[in-house]
Amino acid sequence: MFTKLIAANWTSLKYIKNYDNLNQFVPYQQMIKMHVDNVLEKAAALQAERGRVVPIRILEAGAGTGNITLAVASNLLYRSIPFKYVAFDHDDNMRAAGAKKLARLNLPENKLALYPGDLTKPDLGLPVLLHKSDVIIMNNVLYLFPDDVKYAILHNLSHNYLANNGIFLLCEPKAKGEFTYLDMLKPHLKHKGFFHTTFFMLPKLLKLQQGEKDLINKKFMISGLRQKELLVKAGFNIYKIEDAYGQANKYFSCSTRPS
Ligand SMILES: C[S@@+](CC[C@H](N)C(=O)[O-])C[C@H]1O[C@@H](n2cnc3c(N)ncnc32)[C@H](O)[C@@H]1O
Repeated sequence: MFTKLIAANWTSLKYIKNYDNLNQFVPYQQMIKMHVDNVLEKAAALQAERGRVVPIRILEAGAGTGNITLAVASNLLYRSIPFKYVAFDHDDNMRAAGAKKLARLNLPENKLALYPGDLTKPDLGLPVLLHKSDVIIMNNVLYLFPDDVKYAILHNLSHNYLANNGIFLLCEPKAKGEFTYLDMLKPHLKHKGFFHTTFFMLPKLLKLQQGEKDLINKKFMISGLRQKELLVKAGFNIYKIEDAYGQANKYFSCSTRPS
């Protein structure tokens, strides 16, 4: 039991390094930007609908090391758009790494909180009672669960955690993503040149590739088509499907289906 705990802890610490390495590559940054743009668009729509500025409520499930949280919150702050952001993750090490990053923003808990929480629980295992959210973000988390659990999670989020006119932003790896690692380097080559790409980014990429082999659990990954079926069955209306993270991920923009 003790050995198992240490092994799990070691894996999650290695995973954090992997994730923050990933964060430096253009395709991952582009994926983060998709979340930022969608949130900004929703904030503008809410303001137009209500005729006044109201804080946009955001819930991020499985926030990991806070890369998306930081980008979305910084962009809202930069534009002086008020928000209430709750991010959660069940992994203590992930949250500790995320909390370090988010501390830079120096925001009170009622504006930005990173809580322990468990997606598989109906109440999400959060230490607070949550209002429904205008936006729910879930990036590369659902693939970790078998189909029946995926469905239960989606159903719970759509029925209990998303406001009536809210949006759900789901980005997921495809079972047969056509991503090749070298594609990650191409934009760097263009922006940063041969020397930087070869001597600085290439070693990072190789580490990342190894990390992904060792750490990423591909057992329950599904096709974009199956993902679509699950979303619809769980009560979402999908209004946009895009490729993300090169060709390796699918990005689903969804709203709640009018009942
Ligand atoms: C691949 S990482 C993605 C992290 C982050 N969303 C990102 O894209 O940078 C998956 C995350 O899901 C979290 N996770 C896995 N199972 C969870 C659960 N049952 N409840 C909450 N978070 C969970 C993991 O701890 C991990 O941080």
